[in-house]
Amino acid sequence: IKASMIADKDFKLAEVDPRLYGSFIEHLGRAVYGGIYEPGHATADENGFRQDVLNAVRALNVPIIRYPGGNFVSGYNWEDGVGPKAERKQTLELAWWTTETNHVGTNEFAEWARLAGSEVMMAVNLGTRGIDAARNLVEYCNHPSGSYWSDLRISHGVKAPHQFKTWCLGNEMDGPWQIGAKTAVEYGRLANETAKAMRWVDPSLELVACGSSGSSMSTFAEWEATVLDLTYDNVDFLSLHTYYNNNDGDTANFLAKSLDLDQFIGSVAAICDYIKAKKKSKKKINLSLDEWNVWKSQGSSRMETHWQIAPPEFEDVYNMEDALAVGCCLISLLKHADRVKMACIAQLINTIAPITTENGGPLWLQTTYYPYMHASLYGRGTVLHPLITSPKYDSRDFTDVPYLEAVSVYNEELGEITVFAVNRHLSEGMELSVDLRSFGQTEVVQHIVMDHEDLQAANTKQHPGNVLPHDRGTAVAEDGRITALLSKASWNVIRLR
Ligand code: AHR
Repeated sequence: IKASMIADKDFKLAEVDPRLYGSFIEHLGRAVYGGIYEPGHATADENGFRQDVLNAVRALNVPIIRYPGGNFVSGYNWEDGVGPKAERKQTLELAWWTTETNHVGTNEFAEWARLAGSEVMMAVNLGTRGIDAARNLVEYCNHPSGSYWSDLRISHGVKAPHQFKTWCLGNEMDGPWQIGAKTAVEYGRLANETAKAMRWVDPSLELVACGSSGSSMSTFAEWEATVLDLTYDNVDFLSLHTYYNNNDGDTANFLAKSLDLDQFIGSVAAICDYIKAKKKSKKKINLSLDEWNVWKSQGSSRMETHWQIAPPEFEDVYNMEDALAVGCCLISLLKHADRVKMACIAQLINTIAPITTENGGPLWLQTTYYPYMHASLYGRGTVLHPLITSPKYDSRDFTDVPYLEAVSVYNEELGEITVFAVNRHLSEGMELSVDLRSFGQTEVVQHIVMDHEDLQAANTKQHPGNVLPHDRGTAVAEDGRITALLSKASWNVIRLR
């Protein structure tokens, strides 16, 4: 098959907010304990942080990491996680029915994120708690000194304030599974009043209101409109969450699911603009897709994990086709970079994550690590309008799915153009032609490819190098045009200068 696209530097879509490549670490499964923190591990530093994990995270250049939840935050008393470790309470954790040691809390995570080179996207508990705990937490984290909570932080050995800028007002408050779930009116009122108090402590905060926990919720759309109606002047972002899988074994349909993400983003942006129009406001609400990924394991394993400490949970093994689906979603995010300013692949370590560790053992990188890393490293700058001509197919849930999913990003500072492209065709290669008309003479620096004969192939502890990107792509640039043969079912990163 043949497909083409135009990449023209005058057709600017948006500047990429680096926070598009954020991630998420929740107190869930072995994300924290056995993931980032494992005192006694051969690579652990004096804080108990695994250096092998830190190195793998640093290589991703993750700009922001959401913490501490997720469902966990809706029952979390943040005070339990600060102060001398020996005095911290061991508590029953009701989101995932485990026992929380509280050995890692706000200060430890802030230090870990600093070492990883990432900002923290904090979340406050609007399930069991509210305004008071939230404003105290802001004071503890961000106020320099001279007040009860800021001085308490200093007494805990943290002199300089954390200066966390981005805060989530609760998590998935529409979900019946959420501790302290609320109706849209209950949540909207609480979020608005909490936002006001938090900003009175620190006016520089950027606040994210909870959208629906997914577009399939029966209250979707109505929830967004009601919450925004009640919070519009006091929040900056609305959240979106979505997960995809191929549990029914229909790969053509699975790879088309990024079209659902396109539509989800479009719908939520439309609701934001509806409330903007209704309020005759000049303010634009942007979107934070602060949970997205492929998630295959089903249901909650609560009964099995009953009150264990950091049991393995949702440790999905990602294969080649999952990497393609993640790649398509990353392209979708870039295509909506005018509205989606933050996004968090959920999650980062062990729990539905691109990085897997063994307690006391090694670390290995899942297939999905690579497209995420490529986008984070090379997808910074200006997104150009993707003008694409491609043959299309119909799948079970989607019509007119282009075989070519692609977008280009121009990094003016480095003088680099990067084309991200997925060939969705499962049995045929694609002759791709990219018209680079405004760029003049360019050279292909690298054409990275991820493909594999077996779409179910994955990386494991025994075979960590089973599915790896390689540099053997065929792209050439000549006379202002790239030509390349994209192998069937492949992820491609074509870098030009
Ligand atoms: O990321 C795992 C869980 O998925 C989060 O705790 C929750 O917010 C979502 O339902």
